[in-house]
Amino acid sequence: MRILLLGSGGREHALAWKIAQSKKCEKLYIAPGNAGTATVGENVNIKVNDFEGIKAFCIEKDITMVVVGPEDPLVGGIYDFFRNDAQLKDIPVIGPSKAGAVLEGSKDFAKGFMQRHGIPTAAYRTFTAATVQEGFSFLRSLQPPYVLKADGLCAGKGVLILPTLEEAERELKEMLSGMFGDASSRVVIEEFLDGIECSVFVLTDGNSYKILPEAKDYKRIGEGDTGLNTGGMGSVSPVPFANEEWMRKVEDRIIRPTVEGLKAEGIDYKGFIFFGLINAKTMVNGQWSMEPKVIEYNVRMGDPETETVMLRLKSDLVDLFEGVATGTLAEREVEFDERAAVCVMMVSGGYPGSYGKGFPISGIEDVEGSIVFHAGTAMKDGQVVTNGGRVIAVSSYGQDKEEALRKSFTEAGKIQFKGKYFRRDIGADL
Ligand code: AMP
Ligand code: GLY
Repeated sequence: MRILLLGSGGREHALAWKIAQSKKCEKLYIAPGNAGTATVGENVNIKVNDFEGIKAFCIEKDITMVVVGPEDPLVGGIYDFFRNDAQLKDIPVIGPSKAGAVLEGSKDFAKGFMQRHGIPTAAYRTFTAATVQEGFSFLRSLQPPYVLKADGLCAGKGVLILPTLEEAERELKEMLSGMFGDASSRVVIEEFLDGIECSVFVLTDGNSYKILPEAKDYKRIGEGDTGLNTGGMGSVSPVPFANEEWMRKVEDRIIRPTVEGLKAEGIDYKGFIFFGLINAKTMVNGQWSMEPKVIEYNVRMGDPETETVMLRLKSDLVDLFEGVATGTLAEREVEFDERAAVCVMMVSGGYPGSYGKGFPISGIEDVEGSIVFHAGTAMKDGQVVTNGGRVIAVSSYGQDKEEALRKSFTEAGKIQFKGKYFRRDIGADL
């Protein structure tokens, strides 16, 4: 197969690394890619939202499959663009239709979907500028902290968790008057859930699904989960509390109802579903217990979860994609690597605030026994330089997560660039 992968982050380097290992992959292109993806395939200078540019490239190179990394082109309807184009309609796109991508593109839609299908999630209501007073009353009926979510895509910045009613009311007003532009013209207010998070991933062909290895990511910039939210500072797989019993609950109460719900609503969905779950303290029959609930849906893989999930997926990813494309996923095998995998993200000084770019990166060639995935890197005059907030993910295997983490921390110490920072407590809370 001649595959075009869209995206340019650490997630895409990890996907490219895995795709390139498949015997079924004859040629791999990545658009636009980064300095890392160029080592496992060929980068093409086309932006992920340039559908006409992607079309021309697919025709020129006789591409036989398109794999979509980030959510943006999915929410923008790249799947439908291919299906509705006479020259592209036979090229499978791994990723949902525009109607399916709304699961990530609108928090209000996602909450309504969960309600319709009895999928456990936080209690909520949605408000607009016209109903802001009702929003204030709803806030008063809740216990702090208060969770406010912009309805639309906000590059990961649309969720506010506020300790006091005064702040929640002020931010609600701000959001509804255009704090995130159109994305916050509707705001979901929901019950705060207390617990540990876990990311669960499936691939679906619209009928059946396969569960991939789960992972936990670390969102805050500071050690001990302090400071601002980032795109993700590291990840660990497996997650100890996601044992067989817990995963059975997740499958019965969340995964199967989601796939069946999509089908029942006539939504064309062939791709990844990322369940952002929380193991929440819940009152069941008068007793507290820990139960999985959905925090959010994403319609793509997670970053930096992919940088551990791909290590733990033993099966041929392209074979699974073929199953998705042809509706034969049920016949394919998903095998997990028994080892633990972790990822430690090295970021630019200042991130997630402002940071410099273009600093030379050295020491990558000295890394031994770990896998280096590039996130925000670029090539400049033959030299790998920083080109983003999250720069490089150092992923490792180990018999347990401790062994894998020791490896990643040691190897991350060998890579140098101006202002480099990484958290040394990834996995320590598990
Ligand atoms: P989201 O963009 O929906 O994933 O939200 C970003 C982060 O906010 C999540 O990863 C959680 O850490 C946190 N969060 C979102 N919703 C809730 C909630 N209802 N209760 C507690 N934390 C939440
Ligand atoms: N790591 C969380 C995400 O990709 O959204």
